[in-house]
Amino acid sequence: MDFSDAVRMRKSVRKYLDRDIDEKKLRSILEIGLRAPSARNEQPWRFLVIRDPEKRKQLARAAKNQQFVAEAPVVLAACGVNVDHVMTCGQPAYTVDVSVAVDHITLAAPAEGLGTCWIGAFHEDEAKAILGVPENVRIVALLTIGYPAENPPPTSRATFESRVATDMWPDAWSVELTGKSTEEVENKKTEPAEKPLPSTAAQEAAASAADSGSSTAEAKTPSEKSTTTNTKKSTAEKNSDPRPYAVKKATVAKKASAPKKTTPVRNKKTTRKAKA
Ligand SMILES: Cc1cc2nc3c(=O)[nH]c(=O)nc-3n(C[C@H](O)[C@H](O)[C@H](O)COP(=O)(O)O)c2cc1C
Repeated sequence: MDFSDAVRMRKSVRKYLDRDIDEKKLRSILEIGLRAPSARNEQPWRFLVIRDPEKRKQLARAAKNQQFVAEAPVVLAACGVNVDHVMTCGQPAYTVDVSVAVDHITLAAPAEGLGTCWIGAFHEDEAKAILGVPENVRIVALLTIGYPAENPPPTSRATFESRVATDMWPDAWSVELTGKSTEEVENKKTEPAEKPLPSTAAQEAAASAADSGSSTAEAKTPSEKSTTTNTKKSTAEKNSDPRPYAVKKATVAKKASAPKKTTPVRNKKTTRKAKA
């Protein structure tokens, strides 16, 4: 199977046959996950393979009663370590690295006749207690793995033009994301910034780690404190969301572990050498 076939064949599978996965088969897809790139090649992932039916039942409960979590013969808990490593770009390395590895696994599975579903809707504290995961380790994702008992139709994707642009951030995207008119967006570009955008929990974690002097040297650069991200969901995404599970905004907000505060937007360029 070539790469584009593998990408096309990957779809979220939420119904599984009652059939065990051979250890060798599972190992071969996990090994592909272990080939993923990672910042500083730290490979900050640890994968827990959960086959025990009672634990899978408990995980299904922690995953907001998504029943297929209990029905899949294997649930993978993709964990991240070295959680203090924040890259120069402001993103925590483990979240990115573990996600890349999980994605490799999802793409490797169909060639072995296996289906997967990424589970992000789970209560991490509950999952950690079930699996005995220590405090300084994060569970980035759960992944159900098994032989598909369904062949779901491919889900839709936004158009190429609505997601890809060249050289400059297009006004049309700001219009879509902010709900402002084109004129307002154009005028805004010539005005000085009024107030900082809310920063993400990850950037806050980096900033507070840098403040307390407990993080890596990288986390102390001004750019970490100044980077901001617009996390608003576009209308197109809201309307085409095919997920059959509920994501409550309040839960998501509560789960962001770092305390909310804003950091000033600064333009000072960092001279520190990027390591990640
Ligand atoms: C970060 C992430 C979290 C997700 N969480 C869940 C989940 O909790 N439950 C679920 O059924 N699907 C979950 N999904 C699967 C998405 O709903 C699915 O990927 C999306 O609808 C596109 O469909 P496809 O994977 O079939 O292409 C998640 C996917 C990602 C990448």
